[in-house]
Amino acid sequence: MPEMEKAAQPIGIFDSGIGGLTVAHAIKEKMPNEALIYFGDLAHLPYGDKSIAAIQAYSIKITDILLEKNCKAIVIACNSASSAAYDLLQEYTATKSKTINVIDPMVEYISKNCKGEKVGLIGTNRTVESNMYEFNLKKLGSTIKLQSLATPLLVPMIEEGFIEDKISGEVLHEYLDHQELQGISTLVLGCTHYPLIKKQIDDFYNHKIKVLDSSEVVADALYSYLKENNLFSKEQDIKDHFLVSDFTEHFEASTTRFFGSRIHLEEKKLWE
Ligand code: DGL
Repeated sequence: MPEMEKAAQPIGIFDSGIGGLTVAHAIKEKMPNEALIYFGDLAHLPYGDKSIAAIQAYSIKITDILLEKNCKAIVIACNSASSAAYDLLQEYTATKSKTINVIDPMVEYISKNCKGEKVGLIGTNRTVESNMYEFNLKKLGSTIKLQSLATPLLVPMIEEGFIEDKISGEVLHEYLDHQELQGISTLVLGCTHYPLIKKQIDDFYNHKIKVLDSSEVVADALYSYLKENNLFSKEQDIKDHFLVSDFTEHFEASTTRFFGSRIHLEEKKLWE
């Protein structure tokens, strides 16, 4: 496909649900001319407790939909899917589209900016068990030792709207007080849902440690790829699409919290 034509194609973004809208929002802020096609696999949420094989199967199905829509790049806006399916998707899309995950840009960021620090990581069971952050840090030659803790209650809590209240405060306290996270000077939010409770986490630490979320570094990674490959869209009349594998009004109402503005969700089954 000629570069001019390819540049006009949309960016595909997917997550298990609507958590990845935090990444979509950062991408939209940085690159407002890019058309987005977002896919939230609400039928299979949460990914964090699923097997690697199941996450890989869902991710391939979603990628097929995004490739059918000619996405020039696909962002896996989910740590659980990035840890379980990135290698597979990279191979699967090799000649058709660029695949970007949410873990590598953050690993690069901390390896450069947190040298010699004690860094904590919180994420889903799938992400923490994968050790992908640790593994990729080692690949970059970093000696940072991550102190990782699975925090599986946070996704359902956030999805249900328990944010900045007593319940979320108590759940967060229980997790952040854990032995594994003692003495850290930076905490990585290894789940795209967690930016929604960043303020509460900052308050827990009295703003004394850095709390990092991946949305901006991922938007930067996509920006660099599009720039290097001369693929910025010059389209004027941009229309974004938000697809979900299972529609409920409840989810449509909560998208405002994640995306920052009201969006309309369309249903597209993974298996018709
Ligand atoms: N937002 C997903 C992530 O970054 C997790 C949600 C889930 O468990 O499905 O890992």
